[in-house]
Amino acid sequence: MRNIVTGNWKSNKLWDEADKLMSELVTGIQSSGNTEVMVAPPTPFLAALQSKYNDQISLASQQCSANGEGAFTGEHTASMLKSIGVTSVLIGHSERRESFGETDEAVASKMERTLEAGLRAILCCGENLDERDAGNHFERVLGQLSHALKNVDAAGMEQVVIAYEPIWAIGTGRTASAAQAQEMHATIRQHLSTLYNETVASSTRILYGGSCKPSNALEIFTQPDVNGGLIGGASLNSSDFLAIVAASNEAISKAV
Ligand code: PGA
Repeated sequence: MRNIVTGNWKSNKLWDEADKLMSELVTGIQSSGNTEVMVAPPTPFLAALQSKYNDQISLASQQCSANGEGAFTGEHTASMLKSIGVTSVLIGHSERRESFGETDEAVASKMERTLEAGLRAILCCGENLDERDAGNHFERVLGQLSHALKNVDAAGMEQVVIAYEPIWAIGTGRTASAAQAQEMHATIRQHLSTLYNETVASSTRILYGGSCKPSNALEIFTQPDVNGGLIGGASLNSSDFLAIVAASNEAISKAV
């Protein structure tokens, strides 16, 4: 199973900066080894980056509409993304849930729209600090997953990647320890075997996100249930992001 390392640029960079970063990544990733490298730039840049770099690095959208085509001002549908060559959609990122009121129900609809359009969903989940301190983190994360996946069958899971991102670790510089990440990833995998079956559980990739950087990526990626990362801040400069991709390749070669 190949790892996935995805850069989430969030709401950062103007066009010239985005173009420069993409060009550095394309040059730096001549051969990505056993890691699929993907970036999620701001939506206004997707089409231009796709036509300029033409599939050299696959593109993800940071979100999509819960609806199909129609009178929904400001929204972009999963099918629109598919039509310009985007391959994947981040769904349920904690910043969307917290700052834009994205509910579990909306997340479930976005999952459906994304899979219907033939795109891959990178489903984000994670607990906040209060939930972790109260010992409710497993319940919280598994609850988010059960909700989001309620209309996804075992075949649909081939298009799903899960990203565990503890909210207290996002952009804070405070990373989950490798042991904390592994514990949650193993629990998520166990949950998938309950919701689906062993095959789905073992073949679904589970990425870690939250202050992942060159100095800690290798330790996290070598955990048995971690299949790569969703990288925010450290994806905004090419040398850090490329170092994280290299850490993923090194982790895979150690595991073989
Ligand atoms: P971070 O963000 O790497 O800056 O913590 C991760 C994310 O939000 O996807």
